[in-house]
Amino acid sequence: MAHLILDIDRKGAVIHRNIYGHFSEHLGRCIYEGIWVGKDSPIPNTEGMRNDVLDALRAMKIPVLRWPGGCFADEYHWRDGIGPQETRKRMINTHWGGVVEDNSFGTHEFLRLCELIDTEPYITGNLGSGTVQEMQEWVEYMTFDGESPMANLRRANGREKPWKLTYFGIGNENWGCGGDMRPEFYADQYKRYNCYVRNFGGNKVFRIACGANSDDYKWTEVLMRDAAHKMDGLSLHYYTVPKTWDEKGSATQFDEDMWFRTLKKTLFMDELITKHDTVMTRFDPEKRVDLCVDEWGTWYDVEPGTNPGFLFQQNTMRDALVAGINFNIFHAHSDRVRMTNIAQVVNVLQAIILTEGAKMVKTPTYHVFDMYKVHMDATHLPIAIDAGTCTHGDVTLPKVHASASVDAEGVVHVSLCNLDPAGEADVTADLRGMNPSSVAGTVLAADSMQAHNTFEAPDAVAPKAFTGASVAGGRLTVKLPPMSVVTLAIR
Ligand code: AHR
Repeated sequence: MAHLILDIDRKGAVIHRNIYGHFSEHLGRCIYEGIWVGKDSPIPNTEGMRNDVLDALRAMKIPVLRWPGGCFADEYHWRDGIGPQETRKRMINTHWGGVVEDNSFGTHEFLRLCELIDTEPYITGNLGSGTVQEMQEWVEYMTFDGESPMANLRRANGREKPWKLTYFGIGNENWGCGGDMRPEFYADQYKRYNCYVRNFGGNKVFRIACGANSDDYKWTEVLMRDAAHKMDGLSLHYYTVPKTWDEKGSATQFDEDMWFRTLKKTLFMDELITKHDTVMTRFDPEKRVDLCVDEWGTWYDVEPGTNPGFLFQQNTMRDALVAGINFNIFHAHSDRVRMTNIAQVVNVLQAIILTEGAKMVKTPTYHVFDMYKVHMDATHLPIAIDAGTCTHGDVTLPKVHASASVDAEGVVHVSLCNLDPAGEADVTADLRGMNPSSVAGTVLAADSMQAHNTFEAPDAVAPKAFTGASVAGGRLTVKLPPMSVVTLAIR
């Protein structure tokens, strides 16, 4: 039995909508095939972008989309991706599979994609192998309205008006694939590049510095000490890798032991954010600088028979739990975490969408995003929880993981994850300061841990109306199915 206390008069921070952000890299079949099929493709498309994927992304109301990488960002030279598509430079994608990158998807195409799905672009500039001038000119190309060489080049390429570009990352993983730098060196480079990223006209750039790899707290400390005054956000990357980086584990062939180990590793996100936040708060007690977890999600061995450099993996009920747990953690830290971007949007790592030729399928992770979107822009309600436990071998997990928020209309949404693959979870909650009369909800559950959606069975794991909750006398009572994610609306 798990017990929660929810007090409507004890409000936390606003849950920034960008916590529900996404990431699209020139990696494997994310951009090419997953989003971009070209105007002449038999797959129905809008200006080269496949309609089924556009519709799925629109329905989810994704708030922000990061591009072009990832590691790809620090070897991307934006001028290769503008002008007539037939004459764009063909290059090798040295990070991801060694395949030919024909640059047919570039700045105009990405920003058009963002317009088509009504999302904010988050572009990562090349600090690792690009020049200061190159980064300066890219921002000028995209955002300057007046007379200038870059603005004129943009016009010559068919775009009269500048785009609105808020989020700009100054390098990616510069401690690794983005130049293998020490934090002190990167902090200096960050300030140098940042200097030339101009705000043109009404466009104010929100500057995101490359942050730490997982628990590298020293990186955060140096960046905050030396450059916090010049940044709006600092990133953090953490992946849930069930085993080791050399042998990560299969996405679908796993047992209960792996289920428990995977969720345990996901729960580590809470400790990570708490500790990075503590370091940041020493230098920024007002919490002006956002912590942007701009890469997170599961990372398994690739599906057998696929290109190891393409990072294509299936997505099961286990991934649904990973997503729900991460969102609950992000909500709890919404006074510092104001953007996150799952890796990645289509066909790569913990994808929300998988495609094969003209076919498309939504993964369990997609459904969790869709169920949790009610928390976007709502006010976090901190929960006091006695979660109970479930144990397998030497791993013990909280049985129930939860978060809650209240929206502008006064509707309280509670999301509950039952981490136990073998047993139901009984939950009671005291709803203090509320006298609700109704509860309705949606559940994502399955009969097996490995349940997933395929092109043959696209709705094997799909949300359903939930009937296992009731309210009476200011108390909520819920029975969660094993390994399930539930979102309730309490009115
Ligand atoms: O998301 C895949 C890769 O993981 C990204 O390119 C890189 O930033 C990270 O190491």
